[in-house]
Amino acid sequence: MDFLELAKARYSCKKFSDKPVEKEKLEQILEAGRLAPTAKNNQPQHIYVLTSKESLALTDKITPCRYGAPVVLAVAHDADNVFEYPGGKYNSGAEDAAIVATHIVLAAKAAGLDTCWLNFFDPDKAKELLALPQNEELTILIDVGYPDAAAKPLPNHDSRKPLSETVTYR
Ligand SMILES: Cc1cc2nc3c(=O)[nH]c(=O)nc-3n(C[C@H](O)[C@H](O)[C@H](O)COP(=O)(O)O)c2cc1C
Repeated sequence: MDFLELAKARYSCKKFSDKPVEKEKLEQILEAGRLAPTAKNNQPQHIYVLTSKESLALTDKITPCRYGAPVVLAVAHDADNVFEYPGGKYNSGAEDAAIVATHIVLAAKAAGLDTCWLNFFDPDKAKELLALPQNEELTILIDVGYPDAAAKPLPNHDSRKPLSETVTYR
């Protein structure tokens, strides 16, 4: 599959099968995340791979959006190891985590898996429930698994603004 075909094929899966994800595939997509660029190459990401019955039950307390996925990746970052933009108001933590997560989501599709990127959760509550260290912030959850036979993209999946609305040449 060429890259644009892969980008088109990825969709937010909202119904997963309970077929387990092979360890080899999981490691492959985590490796794709490892290769992602981060600001100053700080690599502040910390990915929690949630697969046990207990961890998945905990995830269900954090978000209603697991959709039966057998794997949930919680993508956190070390807030003490981020790049601060000049001006001191912004930092690259969530940005770095999002790049890692994007690599993972696309690599998952390439490996025949589906995903759903989630932010429908309270980060502070999630941090507490997952017992993350004080210096880590959690901004992204990713459901990962094989799609249920009835899974299909939502109708808005193919609805994207034309480039003329989102790109300006100057
Ligand atoms: C930053 C972000 C947060 C999202 N959060 C959720 C979520 O919490 N729950 C959910 O079901 N889908 C979530 N989604 C999926 C989007 O709703 C979905 O990507 C969008 O509707 C486009 O559909 P598609 O991914 O199938 O193309 C999120 C996607 C992104 C990029």
